[in-house]
Amino acid sequence: MPSQHVFNNKDGATYTTSNGAPVNEPYAAQRAGLHGPLLLQDFHHIDLLAHFDRERIPERVVHANGAGAHGYFEVTHDLSDITSQTLLRSVGKKVRVTMRFSTVGGESGSADTARDPRGFSAKLRTDEGNWDWVFNNTPIFFIRDPAKFPHFIHTQKRDPQTHLKDPDAFWDYLSQNPESIHQMMILFSDRGTPDGFHNEHGYSGHTYKWLKEDGSFVYVQVHVRADGGFKTLDDATATRLAGENPDYGTQALFETIEAGKFPSWTVYIQTMTPDQAEKFRYNILDLTKVWPHADYPLRPFGKIVLNENPQNYFAEIEQVAFSPSHTIPYIEPSADPVLQSRLFSYPDTHRHRLGTNYHQLPVNAPLNPVANFQRDGPMTFISQGNRPNYQSSIQPLSYKSPKGTIDHTVRDFEREAKHENFIGGAYRELGILTELDFEQPRALWQKVFDDHAREAYVKNVSGHFGKCKSAEVKARQLSVWAAVDQGLADRIAKAIGHPPVKPMKVAPASEAIRFKAALGASLKQ
Ligand code: HEM
Repeated sequence: MPSQHVFNNKDGATYTTSNGAPVNEPYAAQRAGLHGPLLLQDFHHIDLLAHFDRERIPERVVHANGAGAHGYFEVTHDLSDITSQTLLRSVGKKVRVTMRFSTVGGESGSADTARDPRGFSAKLRTDEGNWDWVFNNTPIFFIRDPAKFPHFIHTQKRDPQTHLKDPDAFWDYLSQNPESIHQMMILFSDRGTPDGFHNEHGYSGHTYKWLKEDGSFVYVQVHVRADGGFKTLDDATATRLAGENPDYGTQALFETIEAGKFPSWTVYIQTMTPDQAEKFRYNILDLTKVWPHADYPLRPFGKIVLNENPQNYFAEIEQVAFSPSHTIPYIEPSADPVLQSRLFSYPDTHRHRLGTNYHQLPVNAPLNPVANFQRDGPMTFISQGNRPNYQSSIQPLSYKSPKGTIDHTVRDFEREAKHENFIGGAYRELGILTELDFEQPRALWQKVFDDHAREAYVKNVSGHFGKCKSAEVKARQLSVWAAVDQGLADRIAKAIGHPPVKPMKVAPASEAIRFKAALGASLKQ
């Protein structure tokens, strides 16, 4: 952001109109006579009001409340055995990063300590374009079918009539869509209220594909782990802070960096070969599942350090536009349908929120020059000079050499076709709810949570769930918890004064496994 650094609060600048003419008195408005009406000729005054009237841009439709800072990403370990991406083979290389942390449901200015997942985004400015990580602080998500996203988000936002948050809508949605239960186990643990924005981990959640020049690839999940650990608040403290200091996370991030205590994270990947993916117990396109660390260990490859606060929040954080579709060579999305939907949704909302030329804003412009055939539109300020605006044979753009692309002569097309078959089946399988969907939430409750975490979960969840009025919704959501663990459901029922409820009916795990076996058989034919 060099252009931002030209300005600062000590540069002794002369006060001017927006066309640069010096003005002596910022508060004076021109009048007809001593006490007469204001004059239309007073550009200084009219321009001031007219600009003020247009200061607000649409806030993000989700993740509106947040904070951010700049720093760097450094490659610490070579990954050339799994990808041909240049940056990931360049140990010691540092690239400039902008990060933004956010809550999801609340409006801009709402409480930083609200119980909500946290957005965890990073823009890495590489020599081959901007690479955005648009992650959350949870390794999984509420949905695995993108058509549910607007419905789900509406139930976390305000009621169309009362303009209030509605616990009945919240639990009505969740109880009808029990694949959300794994995320709900995390959200109502103390991880749902992190201590500030920077004391937390980030996760890609989705599976990505990282490729090599020969077309081979591995599936990848990225984990960004806070060096100081994932710190949380208990429900009472988070609620108190929401009233006393709604900007708690924003303030802590800014002041920590100002004090020179730079927040840092170590970045890891989990990888899976296509063969492993075909044999994996869970579907690799299922955003509600984690990959067990024991089978797919974390492999470090980088670090992130935030060492610079923005000079101007609006220009550098509010206007930053992250998208999972901003990738660089050899980094590709998987066929995860939620991820595929997001590839469309982010640039679409950026065109609405920031304008057609959002990528030309200083915080969004890549370091390497853009050369393409897109031209003009509102607020164009990089118009690519006199370059032809079509694919000209007289003055052609140069294209990247074959090195740096996939070598199609060595690809194993037969193997790829079989795997694509598997992916097609895995995609279809996401519609089925089976016992597989309850295994990981059950492991969290029975094995990962200790007594203190179990106690906190029941307290946190019953505080919110107890506000739900509908008897039907209450019984349905309790039956989801009972499918995780009867003891868990009974404890929540007791806490809200509800009779015990039996587990909801769920298809056996063998349904999903049978589906995969049938697919495997068809692949062998
Ligand atoms: C923000 C859509 C799922 C992480 C946003 C925004 C939209 C959106 C429209 C506002 C972006 C902006 O105004 O710049 C969707 C859709 C989803 C989805 C349609 C599913 C179908 C997810 C998931 C994750 C995620 C699964 C994490 C794994 C984020 C983050 C932001 C965000 C971190 C804030 C970006 C920032 O700081 O500017 N999402 N989202 N979203 N989303 Fe999603």
